[in-house]
Amino acid sequence: MTATVHSYATEIEASLEAVAARGIDPTAAIYERLFHAHPELKPLFWRDDNGAIRGEMLARVFEAILDFIGERRYSDHMISTEMITHEGYDVPREAFATFFANVGEGLQDVLGPDWTPGFERAWSEMLADIDGFAQGTPRSDVITPARDGDGCRGA
Ligand code: HEM
Repeated sequence: MTATVHSYATEIEASLEAVAARGIDPTAAIYERLFHAHPELKPLFWRDDNGAIRGEMLARVFEAILDFIGERRYSDHMISTEMITHEGYDVPREAFATFFANVGEGLQDVLGPDWTPGFERAWSEMLADIDGFAQGTPRSDVITPARDGDGCRGA
């Protein structure tokens, strides 16, 4: 059980538990929905010929969500660092907000009528918070004084 720190923690956890209780692995539903709505993201996974990378990635994303709604020991920083490391996979930054929202929608697909207004509200609030961290990530394509060579431009 995650320590409840954020207002939406209980409902987010309940939504994840509701899916787990059905014994359904939501991985396929989540990626199918993602690639249907955003076909441009599918080719980015060209190396993943057996789904192992997609599965591993989603597992990490669920772990990060559990940390994000609880103690935030690492997940807030991780969103930023993954945005930067994923540039090496040509993943656009905007895809992060899309991906997290799509996870929620995928769970909603799985739960159907058992998706509650409380789940909906909690996911919206959490996604807005995640977006705040994503927007705050400094862009690596901006030339900072440190990357400019002399490290003291304008001084
Ligand atoms: C915080 C969010 C994310 C986390 C924690 C995360 C985590 C990971 C991890 C751990 C891997 C390596 C998996 C393995 O090799 O077994 C990976 C690979 C990958 N991720 Fe993510 N990811 C995130 C967001 C995204 C987003 C939004 C996209 C865009 C759709 C994306 C696209 C990819 C791709 C294309 C690869 C495969 C790279 C390759 O080896 O060719 N990721 N991710």
